Amino acid sequence: MFNQIKEKALKEIAQTKDLKKLEQIYRRYLGRKGELTKVLRSLKDLPDKERREKGQLANQFKKEIDEAIKTKDREFSGQSGSAKGKGWIDVSAPGLRPPEGHPHPISLAQRQVEDIFQSMGFSVVEGPEIENEYYNFDALNIPKDHPARDLWDTFWLKDIDLLLRTHTSPMQARYMEKHQPPLRIIVPGRCFRHEATDASHDVQFYQTEGLMVGRDISMVHFKGIVEEFLKQFFGPEVKMRLRPGYFPFTEPSFEVDIKDKKKNWLEIMGAGMVHQNVFKEVGYPLRKWQGFAFGVGLERLAMLKYKIDDIRLFYSGDLRFLNQF
Ligand code: DAH
Repeated sequence: MFNQIKEKALKEIAQTKDLKKLEQIYRRYLGRKGELTKVLRSLKDLPDKERREKGQLANQFKKEIDEAIKTKDREFSGQSGSAKGKGWIDVSAPGLRPPEGHPHPISLAQRQVEDIFQSMGFSVVEGPEIENEYYNFDALNIPKDHPARDLWDTFWLKDIDLLLRTHTSPMQARYMEKHQPPLRIIVPGRCFRHEATDASHDVQFYQTEGLMVGRDISMVHFKGIVEEFLKQFFGPEVKMRLRPGYFPFTEPSFEVDIKDKKKNWLEIMGAGMVHQNVFKEVGYPLRKWQGFAFGVGLERLAMLKYKIDDIRLFYSGDLRFLNQF
């Protein structure tokens, strides 16, 4: 008997085309005077064993019918027209928590770099990602036909005298044109190189430029400040070394390496004492000022700190990677 009621109900539900009919069906079977409700009520007069068995079955059928009605109702609620929005709403259901965002590992590294340098009196300034040839090269003592231009594989923008900056160094000249020493700045930002990608190179990357100029700023200041920065960033046990290097805008130039966990030296920044030609170009009187500059790769810093072995992960958008930070 139960079974027949259930079959009948399910069939009617399947054939219903509107919410009103669905409500009628609900009342007919599960309402206070509904068919199944009546049957359930009549069970109380049966002997114990039978009552338990039948009760279980009837309750199960009740559940099935109820589910079928709810499913159908959801179907109607999703439709446009008069039935829309009239479905049952389970007000006791927990709300949907919107997923919470968090900073990208490169942003994390950049913020730490900014905090540390700001604590040492440096200001944070930013420059344009689309640069012109003059600031990216000429102002940095890299004239048009100088072979040193080959150090930076450049994305030139077609038919206009612009390019994607290959480093954050152009901001040195832009800033000094407008400000007089003494000065201390860092310039975080995105740079671009027309290079093949591999585990440690990508066509875009983040760099932070540093520049400190005064009457008597020397390599000693450079070494002290960079060592302090690295200690705060990586911890007091960090080991660094300076190696001779070459950059047209510094004289002398050097590279800074730090020792990784496997005891290998890894290059993390280029640096040097600002070339007098750069000062001359921004209009400073010759030999009045001296200072140091550096450019540090933010990905390199983040890779060492968080033990990441492939730079391309930063730009993959892969949440399995990003959600670890
Ligand atoms: N701009 C250089 C590069 O991207 C890095 C660099 C080297 C920056 C020496 C400096 C510097 O400021 O003094 O390869």
